[in-house]
Amino acid sequence: MKIPFHKPYITEDETSELLDTVKSGWLTMGPKTISFEKEFSCYIGSKHSIALSSCTAALHLGLKVVGIRPQEEVIIPTMTFTATAEVVCYFNAKPVLVDVERDTHNMDVSKIESAITPKTRAIIEVHYGGQPCDMDRILEIAKRYYLFVIEDAAHSLPAWYNGEKIGTIGDITCFSFYVTKPLSTGEGGMATTENDDWAERMKILRLHGISKDAWKRYSSEGSWYYEVMEAGYKYNMTDIQAAIGLHQLYKLPQFQARRREIVRRYNEAFSQFEELQIPTEQPEVEHAWHLYVLRLNLELLNISRNQFIEELKARNIGTSVHFIPVHLHPYYRNKYGYKHDDFPVAYREYQRIISLPLYPRMTGRDVNDVIEAVCDVVEKFRR
Ligand SMILES: Cc1ncc(COP(=O)(O)O)c(C=O)c1O
Repeated sequence: MKIPFHKPYITEDETSELLDTVKSGWLTMGPKTISFEKEFSCYIGSKHSIALSSCTAALHLGLKVVGIRPQEEVIIPTMTFTATAEVVCYFNAKPVLVDVERDTHNMDVSKIESAITPKTRAIIEVHYGGQPCDMDRILEIAKRYYLFVIEDAAHSLPAWYNGEKIGTIGDITCFSFYVTKPLSTGEGGMATTENDDWAERMKILRLHGISKDAWKRYSSEGSWYYEVMEAGYKYNMTDIQAAIGLHQLYKLPQFQARRREIVRRYNEAFSQFEELQIPTEQPEVEHAWHLYVLRLNLELLNISRNQFIEELKARNIGTSVHFIPVHLHPYYRNKYGYKHDDFPVAYREYQRIISLPLYPRMTGRDVNDVIEAVCDVVEKFRR
């Protein structure tokens, strides 16, 4: 593939820090993870940052510390990755799906209230592709119904809503550092919160439920003695991941500027075609542009979205689809009886979306190649 869907941006900064970590002999969670947490808090402006093995772990611990119980309900958008839904199932609780807005693919806030029942305890909203949801309206509904708000911010680093950085608004915010994400440590995640008790409990739960600072037990400051406070998890980050993360964090402004520039080039090129619909940015937000989701006006083309993807592949361009809505997957269909037309907006949008390559390592030439390939397919297959 000449232009794969994603390539991480790793330079000498990350590799020398990595080497330093390996040579230090401290490979698992340790001083670098702690400094990554501190730097992350500084960058986001959050009181607490808890470094974890993934965003999925952050979502899981988030639900755990707010106290989700079996048979309760958590509202989530259907247009998301399965991680957002599966963590609810870990509690034997129900992920209650809500359709999305046509324009942003974020959860349709006007449909949240009708999904609330006496069993609803929380909302997990997803800032789709990096574009923040309408947080004021979500928080207002959550307050009225006494619901917790957990933000799935896997895509939104950095992003702003009405000038406030994502990571400081909801009760708990969960970030992903998976390889394709705006900040990558290969695998990894972070939970941010202003709540001291939740932060402390997440720190204990990420290392088997062991009492305070379990990671220090093999250091000179630590002790062999520990107590297990509850049945926890193995969800800690490692210093190997944090070494990469620290330098990725410093580069975020530079990454963000490059992403914006690529988006500008794509928008300029694709807005010339009535067969294509370009993504938009709401006036009250600053988009992280993790994804560039192009929409096909299928009625003006004589190929399907899947064929369009194949045509791009034949031109050596890697793409993806975000997302196959949760309610279309067999597990959720069979367990909760969801049908494909239960969420018509997500279903329709799913059939016409393609995520194009969008990452700081793309050269001007790569961007041109993607544009040329997309335009070529449109010209060849327009009705
Ligand atoms: C919206 C969303 N939430 C959660 C996740 C899970 O992230 P992680 O792989 O870090 O667990 C992803 C990953 O792609 C995602 O896209």
